[in-house]
Amino acid sequence: MDPILWQTTRHELATARALRFEWQRDGRTHSGILVDDNGTPRAFENRCPHWDLPLDGNGARWWDERREQLVCTAHGARFALESGACLSGPCEGAELTALLVDIAGDVIRIRPAPLLQFGGLALLPPTDPSSDDP
Ligand code: FES
Repeated sequence: MDPILWQTTRHELATARALRFEWQRDGRTHSGILVDDNGTPRAFENRCPHWDLPLDGNGARWWDERREQLVCTAHGARFALESGACLSGPCEGAELTALLVDIAGDVIRIRPAPLLQFGGLALLPPTDPSSDDP
């Protein structure tokens, strides 16, 4: 089974509509965003494909004014909730790195995105062996 990067509950996501989370890999701290897309949880690495900066730099939030798109606060790129595709801004045509969302009952678990996938087989990124799954 793929490693778990982080987990929460459907109730917690429904209350917040978006949650930021962190995990360790290769000795570094990485962050992600879990959003409630009209009842469907979607997760992305919190890393803009333009300059590799977090979307929420300087503590700003990542929603657009109607809470329908994610926005990078550095240069204003906008991303689709359902796919992470950059819809406008300096990275148009690129996309956020989607993470796998695994739902079991009320629990939402976030797992790494596969680097490559062939049918039922997936090549996953290496994890930090010194960190424990949450
Ligand atoms: S770093 Fe995100 S738009 Fe430039």
